[in-house]
Amino acid sequence: MRTHVGIVGAGPAGLFLAEFLRQAGIDCVVLEARDREYVQQRVRAGVLEQGSIDAMRQLGVDARMNELGLEHHGFELLWGGRRLRIDMSELCGRSITVYGQQEVVKDLIDRRLEVGEPLLFEASDVQLHDVDSDAPRITFTHDGTAQELQCDFIAGCDGFHGISRPTVPEGVLQTFERVYPFAWLGILAHAAPSNEELIYANTDRGFALYSMRSPTVTRLYLQVAPDEDIAQWSDDRIWSELRTRLRTDDGFAPNEGEIFEKGITPMRSFVTEPMQWGRLFLAGDAAHIVPPTGAKGMNVAIADVQNLSEALIAHYRDTDDAQLVGYTERCLRKIWRVEHFSWFMTSMMHRPPDQDPFAAKLQRSQLDYLATSHAARVSLAENYAGLPRT
Ligand code: APR
Ligand code: PHB
Repeated sequence: MRTHVGIVGAGPAGLFLAEFLRQAGIDCVVLEARDREYVQQRVRAGVLEQGSIDAMRQLGVDARMNELGLEHHGFELLWGGRRLRIDMSELCGRSITVYGQQEVVKDLIDRRLEVGEPLLFEASDVQLHDVDSDAPRITFTHDGTAQELQCDFIAGCDGFHGISRPTVPEGVLQTFERVYPFAWLGILAHAAPSNEELIYANTDRGFALYSMRSPTVTRLYLQVAPDEDIAQWSDDRIWSELRTRLRTDDGFAPNEGEIFEKGITPMRSFVTEPMQWGRLFLAGDAAHIVPPTGAKGMNVAIADVQNLSEALIAHYRDTDDAQLVGYTERCLRKIWRVEHFSWFMTSMMHRPPDQDPFAAKLQRSQLDYLATSHAARVSLAENYAGLPRT
């Protein structure tokens, strides 16, 4: 088999890239380790910033998002029982849309299968070869048959635990990392949202986040220990903890209902530099991770593949490789801003187990500063709503 671009991974990065390239007349083959059902059911974050919404619209895969997505003009911070609304529309003229990552993935898979372009699920033993030559190859097994895919370029869109990044020889990549001493326990519940906007809460008992997916489904998170045993969290215990952490002086409480999804998400910041080696280009979680507090993971994955598709289009259409050469540098401008913002939101809102009184005072001062300074709110709003690619 031969193609222009071999794409490893059918998460948001791989699927957006495939559709951007297809619409530019560039062939690609997407190889995904898991089955379709698994990829479409995997529950992840759900906030799309303006650039991501624009990408969905540009590709014409926005019909369900327009119908089901919830546009939010603001979000709230809660501490000491008080809520502070960050009015994004007023502060920076932008909004976000709540639409689950698995819905985005579903829309893109539907499109790819509709147009009949190759997307192979359950591709096993995927390996990259001759990546530093002009003729890279991918070998894999599909339907019990060993296959080889010859490519001009390979896009490593296979997430943090994929095989693309480890294919790069030792010494080429530098990594930057921070692992946080807490995790998130996330639930989905059949309960109508009792607040229109997201609420990020900093409490003595740890962080909590109030979010939603639809007019009948609430999404909620609790800060827990990184090695937390989910079996210790009965539904009653979860609701009781959420009620305590999300309590406000003005009487807000989450509506409760049947919990139909429960999971624990570790918290990590991670960046690899460069994001390319030879003819391999890394994108999305394969190259970087952010803690979910800034709601940026999917958005920065989409920004990467917008850059990569523009670079590949310049290569094929104009025989201009400047953008391919500059891929890492361009991506990292946005990534480090998002890394800083995600670390900042995480640090401001969580209670680390070993937090000393000095750190607690700093956190409180930062929140009070947001309450009193328009400039501080503008900065928070523009980062949360998403800064444009440069
Ligand atoms: N071969 C083929 N596919 C693989 C392999 C492999 N060896 N290893 C992993 N994959 C697949 C995974 O099954 C997954 O479907 O690659 C895909 C990677 O998708 P994501 O993990 O969703 O990563 P990405 O597309 O970069 O999207 C980033 O996902 O983790 C969230 O919060 C993160 O929102 C962000 C987004
Ligand atoms: C979500 O709804 O899953 C969500 C929202 C905001 C975040 C993280 C996750 O910061």
